[in-house]
Amino acid sequence: MMKTFRLQLRFLAPLIVTLVATAYLALPLVDGLTLRWFSRDLNLRGNLVTNALSDSIAEALKNDSVKRLQTVFNRSVLDERLVGIGLCSDTGTLLLKTSGFPASLTCAKALEYSQNTDSVLHLDSGTVQVGLHAVNGEAGRVADLIVLHDLSFIERRSQDTRKYLILLIAALGITIAFITMVVAQLSWRGWVSGARALLRGEGLIKPMGAPAPELASFAADLRTRLRDLDDEYRRAAGPDAEWSPERLRSLLRTQLRGDQLIVVSNREPYIHDHIDGKITVKRPASGLITAVEPVMRACSGTWIAHGSGSADRDAVDSKDRVRVPPGKDDYTLRRIWMSKEEEDGYYYGFANEGLWPLCHVAHVRPVFRESDWQHYRTINQRFADAVVAEALSDDPVILVQDYHFALLPAMVRQKLPNATILTFWHIPWPNPESFGICPWRSEILEGLLGSTILGFHTKYHCKNFMETADRNLEARIEHEHSTITYRGEETFIESYPISIAWPSPAETQDWPTVEECRREVFAAHGLAPDHRLAVGVDRFDYTKGIIERLHAVERMLEKYPQWVGRFTFIQVAAPSRSALDEYRFFQERVQHLTERINTRFGMPGYQPVHLLAQHHESEALTVLYRAADVCLVTSLHDGMNLVCKEFVAARDDMQGVLILSRFAGAARELQEALIVNPYHVEETADALFRAITMPPAEQRERMASLRMTVREFNVFRWAGRMLADAGRWRLRKRIEARVISHQSIP
Ligand code: G6P
Repeated sequence: MMKTFRLQLRFLAPLIVTLVATAYLALPLVDGLTLRWFSRDLNLRGNLVTNALSDSIAEALKNDSVKRLQTVFNRSVLDERLVGIGLCSDTGTLLLKTSGFPASLTCAKALEYSQNTDSVLHLDSGTVQVGLHAVNGEAGRVADLIVLHDLSFIERRSQDTRKYLILLIAALGITIAFITMVVAQLSWRGWVSGARALLRGEGLIKPMGAPAPELASFAADLRTRLRDLDDEYRRAAGPDAEWSPERLRSLLRTQLRGDQLIVVSNREPYIHDHIDGKITVKRPASGLITAVEPVMRACSGTWIAHGSGSADRDAVDSKDRVRVPPGKDDYTLRRIWMSKEEEDGYYYGFANEGLWPLCHVAHVRPVFRESDWQHYRTINQRFADAVVAEALSDDPVILVQDYHFALLPAMVRQKLPNATILTFWHIPWPNPESFGICPWRSEILEGLLGSTILGFHTKYHCKNFMETADRNLEARIEHEHSTITYRGEETFIESYPISIAWPSPAETQDWPTVEECRREVFAAHGLAPDHRLAVGVDRFDYTKGIIERLHAVERMLEKYPQWVGRFTFIQVAAPSRSALDEYRFFQERVQHLTERINTRFGMPGYQPVHLLAQHHESEALTVLYRAADVCLVTSLHDGMNLVCKEFVAARDDMQGVLILSRFAGAARELQEALIVNPYHVEETADALFRAITMPPAEQRERMASLRMTVREFNVFRWAGRMLADAGRWRLRKRIEARVISHQSIP
């Protein structure tokens, strides 16, 4: 808008200057011209007056009775435009004059004035024109008559003329300026929308009249070429420049034209709870939240999630919205409510007793109940309706998170056909045989195929999904392009390994030093300074391999008894889904096992295992990671696992050893960790021994390499790659749409 205005100013400024200059030059000219016209008229008028009086004057002069003329003269000047009349003898003596005749004006002076070009005399009473006219008798000229004409009416007229001229020029100027602005606006808009269309690819192929049938094969070629280019681009796009919040923001601005971003997840990023009569805010333990929250903070937008806190309703406005993070207000959290019965069916039932064990294949039987499925559908529809209600346009970018919303993509697609729906499945996708036990497998697949892009952490999970779709639906699978076409709609299946936000220097400078962290944690747990400390940080979940980890600790102490009394393992386990029997039994088993190991190897003042079954905020976890010698991540099956990446990010001292399960998605990236099979207790126990005895130089080498990977493959890269693919997808679709509309013009 400012640009348009500046452009128009560039047009208008010279125009205004020209008009002012014209007025400036034209006014004196007009003045001069009107004056000349009026003087000529006045001269003629003077002649008329003289002619009318000539006979009377000649006779009076002959009879020497000039005084008698006074009455005639006085009558003549009754005309408002005559100021005075004077009669000069042929010798130049003023013989008679009317009352308004100036005393200073002599016949000689009148002669002088009348010979001047302007013949104007300035009196106190105003300006007069002096005319000297010959009075002829029978024998020729007998006297001269001085006729003084009032010029003030000419000035009045001149002022009027100026006024009209200025008004005319101003009106002309305004009209021209208005026309210029309209033309400039129209052409600027046309140019901008043309450029936009070109950027979007719409202007690349313009319908140019009737379609030539011979273009059909060209269009098909073009479509294929576009897909090939897309594939090549993806294959070529290896590690590149560092991804940051700024880069993500600029990608949104350029490739997605700053479109609205809506995130949908079950778990909310901030939970308001009533604790001791006060409202407190908590960040839940969730890998999904750890990853998506920094992205939302960078890109703003709206996050739709289940309001599960006891004070959540008190914190929102009338539209169930609250700005978060508290005090920073970077984006909007829109809360969705559900009854206890709905939560039991949708969240605890279908999502966590059905899909969670189904996808993790962690030897816990999935439970599928018809009533849970009905609640799952209802809640998916409720969230889908909220997405449609929050959408500001018909084509927002919607990031659907996880297994709680398998049906939502198709539900949203129905209402917003032009939306770009990116669904990310944060947990593993099993092989087709395992998935085959789900009674509603086709509905789930159909729901997910409403997405534009469906993402998993690993290529292996993508492959499993494509095979599952192939097995269960009448869909066209194109492995080469990694797409599934179902009912005419194409979904792109791709792997996007999730990560964390690499801590900024502003954050790390607030961290206590490693020595301080060690002192704090060691003091809290009564450990001697030369103690070795291993940590595990998880939700209390049977997929995390906590039991297997404890067995490995026990075996290590058994196998290497010199470490009894000098080695401690701290397990942080945030309570999770405790309403489910499976989770409660699991927690009890972990507690019993901990007690057994502590009874076996413990002694006064020493406990080999410390189980901290409570939620820890991220600052406390950073202190724990920095204090530890080893971090144990032994998931039996995990989409990615972000605890291992958080541990690596916390170790800017380049020390500490990571033991990582080969069944966690992260094992594909973090190769410098000690990779273990958690089911193999002996192997994990040996890895633990190797970790606590690893020389600092080797630790440094491994940690430096791990840090490079996590820093580069951060969460902004995860979101950036997905959004860039979405941007290219939108562009390709637009070009294809133009090709098709071009072909279909009759
Ligand atoms: C996993 C899931 C997330 C979930 C998190 C915590 O990471 O992928 O979607 O939020 O576990 O589980 P919860 O049930 O407490 O949200």
